[in-house]
Amino acid sequence: MLDGNLTGLKPSQIKALERIDRRRIPATQVVTAELARFLTELSFDLRRQVGILVDRQGEILHVIVGDDREILLPNLARFGLGRSGLRGLRCIHTHLKGESLTQDDLTDLALLRLDFMVAIAVGERGLPGRVHYAHLLPSNPEGKSVEVLSLPSVHEFDLDFLRFIASLESEMERKMAETFDLSDTREKAILISAGGEPRPELEDSLNELAELARTADVVVLDRVVQRTQKIHPRFLMGEGKMREVIIRALQQGATLLIFDQDLSPGQVRSISEMTDMKVIDRTQLILDIFARRAHTLDGKVQVEVAQLKYLMPRLLGKGTAMSRLMGGIGGRGPGETKLEIDRRRIRERLTRLEKQLEELARGRRQRRQRRIRAEVPIVSIVGYTNAGKSTLLNALTQSAVFTEDLLFATLDTATRRLRFPEEREVIITDTVGFIRKLPKSLLGAFKATLEELEDADLLLHVVDISAERFEEQIAAVERILQDLELAGIPRLLVFNKIDRLPPGEVGALCRRFDAIPVSALERATFTALLEELQRRFWPRDADPADLKPDPSL
Ligand code: GTP
Repeated sequence: MLDGNLTGLKPSQIKALERIDRRRIPATQVVTAELARFLTELSFDLRRQVGILVDRQGEILHVIVGDDREILLPNLARFGLGRSGLRGLRCIHTHLKGESLTQDDLTDLALLRLDFMVAIAVGERGLPGRVHYAHLLPSNPEGKSVEVLSLPSVHEFDLDFLRFIASLESEMERKMAETFDLSDTREKAILISAGGEPRPELEDSLNELAELARTADVVVLDRVVQRTQKIHPRFLMGEGKMREVIIRALQQGATLLIFDQDLSPGQVRSISEMTDMKVIDRTQLILDIFARRAHTLDGKVQVEVAQLKYLMPRLLGKGTAMSRLMGGIGGRGPGETKLEIDRRRIRERLTRLEKQLEELARGRRQRRQRRIRAEVPIVSIVGYTNAGKSTLLNALTQSAVFTEDLLFATLDTATRRLRFPEEREVIITDTVGFIRKLPKSLLGAFKATLEELEDADLLLHVVDISAERFEEQIAAVERILQDLELAGIPRLLVFNKIDRLPPGEVGALCRRFDAIPVSALERATFTALLEELQRRFWPRDADPADLKPDPSL
């Protein structure tokens, strides 16, 4: 296939270029002297660089014509990367002024993950001169990504190309195997955060992103924190820095870049043009988790609506960026279906789903009415994600709501009855876990699911007391309750996972925060909590026959 700057060329020159790909290089050689000479003579004649892309069998797949300073390589995404992360293609091109490899040559080598980048000088009368070449390096502590070498002529290439590449690849794989299991087919991500906040804040948020990634079944290989005074409109950080991050990510064997900050549709596009790794942001990751974890019809519809709304403005870009946006992580619909990618169909589907949501909301309102009429007190469990809400609900009511040591095990509200002596009972509901920086678009989408909280007589705010930053988590939950205009409902702070702390510490913390200690894993620790609930709903001095909740609550 012939590409590039063909304007002004004579038919005979085009023909000569088109004929290059009939040639073949023996698989063990980088380039033959004869082919090198053909390329340099042609290049001399055209006064333009000429390049070829060659596969491991020595077949020439592309011929590219540039200008006198550079050639532009075509998009190579269709060739895919091998296990070592190399693409199995090398680029051999001419340099008219005998210059060594340029920064662009080295960037192409690293970003496209080529086997070799070779530049042959066009000498006098078009004869091949000095050869400069470079190859990538396995991941190393110095962070060096390429090795640049040079030979007086193509005749000096005495390496067995196939053997050389095989040993380079096995070294690359060996290095990667130090950080992850090569047979693991999950996505491997680099987490990236860029912003003007102080470093500890960026790091903190990145820790949470790492937890989110783990929940989405992604292997985290590395993290990059870049403090920037101003956010770069195209790449979030400076273009050069972004390129460096991508090159290093590829060297480490990453398949996915996850940004802690939300990316604009334009930023996703610019970054995706630099690499064929998938590029997603925090919101998309959360949506992906939500998509996998929604259990009820209501939850599934909510998630799909949020996902489609998020994707719509991002679908204006080119086809390739789009299809990358859609596959696997970030492109998963509720229940493992794939999201639609056609915009007209998305719009139709959104209309249908929104209608369905209205009907579901109506059903929910009716159920709530019935519950309120039954005058049974309603307790809702709220709390930061992974605080142990589902576990506590299960243990309290001895039912089995799905729990897992992952973020967002609960996406839909689950409702159970909690029975007390004398046939008293309360309805207790579990809710989706809260997180810091819950994207605004998601807060809106889930407001409906959290609507039931408005009817609660009491909110049990469950806190994982063993979490290092539990105070910030408490504050984050309080802020979200305020955003949801629920701050007026009485709250009871419950410190969970006390089994993980020394007993003395638990007592002091509970006194300081006026909280009740429990371990959701040990039913014996529930007494204080159950007593407090009884005291709140049925004060001892009240008539025991009166089962109504205390209106003053
Ligand atoms: P989301 O639904 O994601 O918001 O999570 P959640 O708050 O419902 O948490 P979940 O009940 O799924 O519990 C999270 C993890 O914490 C699980 O692995 C539980 O086994 C564990 N866990 C819950 N309570 C306790 C506890 O009292 N002690 C200990 N050691 N682990 C607990």
